[in-house]
Amino acid sequence: MSGFLHLSDFHLVEDETLLSRAFNAKYILKNTIDKIVDKKKDFGNLDGVIITGDISDDGSTTSYSDAYDILKELNLPLLAIPGNHDLREPMMKYFAKDTNIQNPEFFDWVYETSDTLIIGLDTLVEGQNHGMLRSESLNLLFEKLSQPTEKNIILTIHHPPINTGIPFMDEIGLKNSDELSECLDAAKQPIRILCGHVHGIYQGSLGIHSVVTAPSTCTRFSFNRRVDAPKGFKLFPTGFAYLDSSSNGFWTPLTTSEQK
Ligand SMILES: [Fe+2]
Repeated sequence: MSGFLHLSDFHLVEDETLLSRAFNAKYILKNTIDKIVDKKKDFGNLDGVIITGDISDDGSTTSYSDAYDILKELNLPLLAIPGNHDLREPMMKYFAKDTNIQNPEFFDWVYETSDTLIIGLDTLVEGQNHGMLRSESLNLLFEKLSQPTEKNIILTIHHPPINTGIPFMDEIGLKNSDELSECLDAAKQPIRILCGHVHGIYQGSLGIHSVVTAPSTCTRFSFNRRVDAPKGFKLFPTGFAYLDSSSNGFWTPLTTSEQK
């Protein structure tokens, strides 16, 4: 059995004091990680931290070095893919150390434990908020899914291939979910697809494959299906998630307040 923390959407910035945000993302991330470290034994065996993007809000090198310094306290492999707010070059300096990056320009990687194969794919279109899987990423996925394996398979991408019902979020979702779906036909078993981006917990499916999105550590979008839904956010509930990747395992969200 392999166990993972699933964290997402930290949105750190170079200098919080220059912004008039209602929250301090660096403090929140530090507080979250400190609480996990305090209770680390409660999670049992942990094999890594899956980070589903938007580590940074402004793409600054400082935001990545700050996030790395905080997360390294977990003393676990950091398995990260970028979100729409990230920039690959500064992120590579800190978050390409623990994964087998296939091409040094993109966050496409494969990570294996004794019973689990995790495939991380890069959906970032720099300068845009929507996501798109490049043909190279889809080819890597197809190749890995085509190979026989006894291991449980996890796919991790920032932009979920399912809708949330929140119009302004769904407009900036994954634009080629249909191509992903076609590629997943190569899978010989149901796989778990872990995502971020939507700052909330949404469950759905893509064919036989389950999809779930992690809460953000710092903010949450209000559930509002109105076409004119405001783009505001809430400060709670936020948190992270835990994954037991075994075939009869589970994914469960944990709110930050539960960590006290
Ligand atoms: Fe985000």
